[in-house]
Amino acid sequence: MEIFKNEIRPYVAKTFSGLENELATELKFLGAENIEIIKRGVKFEGNRELLYRANYLVRTAIRILTPITEFKVTDEQSLYDGVKAIQWDEIMTHKQTFMMTADVFHSQIDHSHFAALKAKDALVDFFRDKIRRRPSVDKEDADFYINIHISQNVCTVSLDSSGESLHKRGYRIGADKAPLNEVLAAGLIKLSGWKGDIDFYDPMCGSGTIVMEAAMMAMNIPAGYYRAQYAFQKWVDYDEALWQSIKEEHDNEFKDIDINIVASDRSEKAIQIAKRNLKHAGLHKDIEISKAYFDSVVPKSEKGILVFNPPYGMRLTENDIVRLYQEIGDVLKSNWSGHQAWIITSAMDAAKFIGLRPSKRIELYNGPIEAKLLCFDLYAGSRREKSPDYRKKLDSGNYRSGKTKYESNPVPFRNEEDGDDDRRSNDRERDARPYRGAGRYDNNSRDNRSYDKKRSDSKSYGDRGRSEKKPYRGGGGRFSNDDRRDSHDNKGYNKKRSGRDSKRSDSRSFKKEDSGFKPFREGDKKPFRKRDNESSNKKRDSKKVTVRFKRKRLD
Ligand SMILES: C[S@@+](CC[C@H](N)C(=O)[O-])C[C@H]1O[C@@H](n2cnc3c(N)ncnc32)[C@H](O)[C@@H]1O
Repeated sequence: MEIFKNEIRPYVAKTFSGLENELATELKFLGAENIEIIKRGVKFEGNRELLYRANYLVRTAIRILTPITEFKVTDEQSLYDGVKAIQWDEIMTHKQTFMMTADVFHSQIDHSHFAALKAKDALVDFFRDKIRRRPSVDKEDADFYINIHISQNVCTVSLDSSGESLHKRGYRIGADKAPLNEVLAAGLIKLSGWKGDIDFYDPMCGSGTIVMEAAMMAMNIPAGYYRAQYAFQKWVDYDEALWQSIKEEHDNEFKDIDINIVASDRSEKAIQIAKRNLKHAGLHKDIEISKAYFDSVVPKSEKGILVFNPPYGMRLTENDIVRLYQEIGDVLKSNWSGHQAWIITSAMDAAKFIGLRPSKRIELYNGPIEAKLLCFDLYAGSRREKSPDYRKKLDSGNYRSGKTKYESNPVPFRNEEDGDDDRRSNDRERDARPYRGAGRYDNNSRDNRSYDKKRSDSKSYGDRGRSEKKPYRGGGGRFSNDDRRDSHDNKGYNKKRSGRDSKRSDSRSFKKEDSGFKPFREGDKKPFRKRDNESSNKKRDSKKVTVRFKRKRLD
């Protein structure tokens, strides 16, 4: 089979809308050729080594596809015939399992789930006709991940070299509400231009995704360092020696950091989860973490950057969300002079109440939610939002075209958990979907994508499916309702990791004990970490920050 020859081949890396340029930059850095930016992805060319490297190192890719063939489709029969014509027995054996996904855009076949079903039938029938046996489908941990992409009646069949979404880094053992997708978190940091040379803060860290990604970047820890496996490892051309040499090369490039990476959150529960994640990854000494309200966090030096995602307001009342963003603005202005703040939010109306003029506005998608990444340059006497209506609207209570009433004395932060964005945890799975939307067959998908209508008083998602254990059911072109990408956290995603873990266990070990992985322990040697405590303490002590204005905490 052509695709298994070690020669320059075309690939497609998928990402979030808004991160395409960052992805292209990462791929270019690795030596990718003929890079072309497409919607939510990047086409590029390279050899097998580049494919392995990209899977291991690129932080802003969700998956990397290897196209096998392309043909025209006008109806279900032509799709079936096209897929059946592929010499599947050169790719896999009937004893191996597979998972078929489909994404369909602007085509006569307009149902992605249906397309995936047809393609699955064609593959199965290929084997049945040839050897009277068929490979099985595995919705959770397949040997082969096959993607059907139909656009303008052209079908591209690809092998997915990543398997489970690359946002499944392997370091997260727990998540609080609304954790940010790891790929998006890395993308935000890249968009901010942070190079690991100044202090980094996430004052609303939740389960700690942003600071973990920041630390990994600053310390040169590969994106896939904690991850157990990739789909290409099951391919017939898999070159174990090449893979090991790539890993060794990059696993020996860890850097020491002498900046502060600081995480805080007002929620004790979130802090406990984040701490567990940090410890699991062996980063608990590199990231300072504490329970704190944003208004009580102070900078550790003169210069630094904040990257955070405040609650979007799915569960907050409009009053609360306005108060929250107003407080964010006040605190930034009074406490963070000399710093730059990057805030991702979907609550654009409320974000105006930050009251600072963003120096940059970048459009992004946080899964299905349209979001903006706002950059605020903070310096003494930061400009107040010049909108003449700002205070007037706030005082009169009409902050959104006069439609809503701002009550004068709400108590928005009464309960620690109240402020959390209520996107369901398994929406993270949707975040990983490169092609959201178009033509899903799954009847549940629409319901799952929309807010829970039963809770008509709120803008929140329903309570269903908060657990990460729940399979992803919305918006995917799979032929089953289940989603393989849910298997990670709950179904032993990391269990397969063995060889390299045992090899590393003397230095960093990052896996749960019940998965056979030894967690990082006090006293374990961390070869790459040589922080000069004396100088970093000096640095911390050298800066005294005066809090000129402390907003009354609303709790
Ligand atoms: C959307 S979540 C952040 C998710 C996080 N980025 C992650 O990946 O897990 C928003 C967080 O802001 C926190 N928060 C809300 N208001 C806060 C405040 N005034 N001070 C500190 N944290 C706050 C919430 O507790 C919640 O954990």
